[in-house]
Amino acid sequence: MNAVKGKVAIVTGGARGIGAATAGWLAREGAAVIIADILDDAGAATADTIRNEQGTVAYASLDVTDEARWAALAEEIADTYGRLDILVNNAGVNLRGGILATTDAELERVLRVNLVGAFLGMRAVVPVMRDHGGGAIVNVVSGAALFGSPSAAYGASKWALRGLTQTAALEFGPLGVRVNAVHPGAILTEMARASGGAVAAAFEEVTPSRRVGTPEEAAAVIGFLCCDAAAFVNGAEIVIDGGFMAGVPMAAIGALAAARQ
Ligand code: NAI
Repeated sequence: MNAVKGKVAIVTGGARGIGAATAGWLAREGAAVIIADILDDAGAATADTIRNEQGTVAYASLDVTDEARWAALAEEIADTYGRLDILVNNAGVNLRGGILATTDAELERVLRVNLVGAFLGMRAVVPVMRDHGGGAIVNVVSGAALFGSPSAAYGASKWALRGLTQTAALEFGPLGVRVNAVHPGAILTEMARASGGAVAAAFEEVTPSRRVGTPEEAAAVIGFLCCDAAAFVNGAEIVIDGGFMAGVPMAAIGALAAARQ
């Protein structure tokens, strides 16, 4: 399949997890992919693995909070490939804890990676996309941007990124750049594992699909939004959660009611 043949893509946080699976999907579908991450060894290893499986993949060291590095990367890509078609703003960090348990420094760190990182990425790449025929951006947000999250900094960062995605769709649509959001539910990655097995088990129990998702399942939806097949999809939000958002409030009410009968 050649769904993104000839296109050039950046995937931030592509060293592992959803980002690595997305880089693999895009490379298999014909794109030249630049994996950008702060985990240099893991990022280079992921690029090697995907390249061996078939695909054009390079690794670039990038801290998404570093504006100068973003500018340099966008310029390097324009010089090397002569175009830039796709940006997947996937890099993210999680932090558990409510408002009273979160320090200013923790809040700022999470906002800088999850929100400012995507902001800087869009600001760096959109002029290049505009000058080379347009492009597609996917912001990897979260189900935590659809309800009140017990994780204060993470939830705030993802709600803000969700809003920024809408602004970007509005602002960049006339430039030929589409911007969409995906909201993964529980996807089995390092980030999810760090929350503990009990959390994954609880998600399995309450999710209508009765399981958690795989990085590849998230990647396929992100990849579709990057394709020309999605050419009229702009400012959309797609949940990838096995029905979690559809089912959980009523399931909780049902369980409470049953327990009280
Ligand atoms: P992960 O922890 O496995 O991967 C995150 C990647 O981002 C890592 O490779 C990490 O090095 C990179 N990263 C972190 N800070 C960075 C920085 N400053 N600059 C560049 N790269 C940086 O996590 P996962 O699960 O693959 O998460 C990917 C995205 O999906 C995140 O934005 C996360 O918030 C989101 N998400 C994940 C869910 C899940 O259940 N796994 C659920 C909802 C959203």
